[in-house]
Amino acid sequence: MKIAVLPGDGIGTEIVAEAVKVLNVLDLKLETETALVGGAAFDALGHPLPDSTLKLAQEADAILFGAVGDWKYDTLDRPLRPEQAILGLRKNLGLFANFRPAICYEQLVGASSLKPELISGLDILIIRELTGDIYFGQPRGRRVATDGHFPGAEEAFDTMRYSKPEIERIAHVAFQAARKRKSSGSEGRVTSVDKANVLETFQFWKDVVSEVGKEYPDIALDHMYVDNAAMQLVKEPKRFDVVVTGNMFGDILSDEASMLTGSIGMLPSASLNAKNQGLYEPSHGSAPDIAGQGVANPLATILSAAMMLRFSLNQAAAADRIEAAVKAVLAQGLRTPDIYSAGTTRVGTSQMGDAVVKALA
Ligand code: NAD
Ligand code: IPM
Ligand code: MN
Repeated sequence: MKIAVLPGDGIGTEIVAEAVKVLNVLDLKLETETALVGGAAFDALGHPLPDSTLKLAQEADAILFGAVGDWKYDTLDRPLRPEQAILGLRKNLGLFANFRPAICYEQLVGASSLKPELISGLDILIIRELTGDIYFGQPRGRRVATDGHFPGAEEAFDTMRYSKPEIERIAHVAFQAARKRKSSGSEGRVTSVDKANVLETFQFWKDVVSEVGKEYPDIALDHMYVDNAAMQLVKEPKRFDVVVTGNMFGDILSDEASMLTGSIGMLPSASLNAKNQGLYEPSHGSAPDIAGQGVANPLATILSAAMMLRFSLNQAAAADRIEAAVKAVLAQGLRTPDIYSAGTTRVGTSQMGDAVVKALA
């Protein structure tokens, strides 16, 4: 089994190193190959997603990704910015289904900014469509003034669009996930999040999801506007089971949901294509504000590696072991600063990784 390891920028390199450490002690026949991506690839090779990196990702059985981006690239032309690397990987590999499970481990109930009773036992799944929406709609750009009066751009535009097959396939993923979760005790509910009251794209989304829902009579379907969903997520998060939404709303709601788990450093993700090939990355970014300090929480990345073993490499037992080791380490009271609370022990990135390795042994 070959894994393409793409650490990227900022804390990406620090957290991926810990996940690789954990994978290496599992005694699986894993081969890893590391490549540059994002700003690091731009600096060395002149492009955020060099052909060699894309080829490695295409040929691997799974991809372990850190994060890309840094403020210093903000003035580059858009196609050269680090973020284009992750968007290019998603689009090129057809990774349309993004799973972001927001699970609050009992040991971290006190780390969240929400009241313990709201999040204790929380286990919801956000499914974000990842290769459509305003992220990939054409046309996009800026219109430049022609009368010479206003130098530079006069307006800018991006186009929101979804096709029927794009909505259908993500809806099927959501209903099937809800069905699977129902078989292990969840409610069996899909909440489709839209903005149908204002946007044509999301009236269409709502109509298509409703149509697909008829094929799943065992699963309850409700619809919620995204502004209300943002509010309900912090008011009563446990009312949700599976949430399915478009690319942009899913981006925003999943960052919000990460705080229900204690920290954005706890939220893993899996991005899958129709062949179940996958890219696994934490839901957070390169965190330039704390990069290089050895304090980033590596657990979202380690938990993403567990998702990789389960979804792409058929190693569910190993995935269970990693998740149990993470719980054990949290039970020992070890905490990176983002999840620190009184009475626990503050550790850095590599100490946290070492502790997971030790718990595995
Ligand atoms: P961010 O997620 O990088 O950071 C937001 C906040 O959360 C920061 O205060 C950061 O310190 C903290 N944080 C994030 N991960 C953490 C961790 N593991 N442990 C502890 N604290 C953590 O978002 P941002 O600051 O808005 O963006 C920074 C850069 O990352 C930008 O260039 C952005 O485009 C990029 N980004 C990349 C990805 C990706 O590669 N998939 C995702 C999101 C953002
Ligand atoms: C994420 C990030 C990316 C996104 C950016 C970096 C392109 O925020 O993975 O959530 O918006 O999808
Ligand atoms: Mn995001």
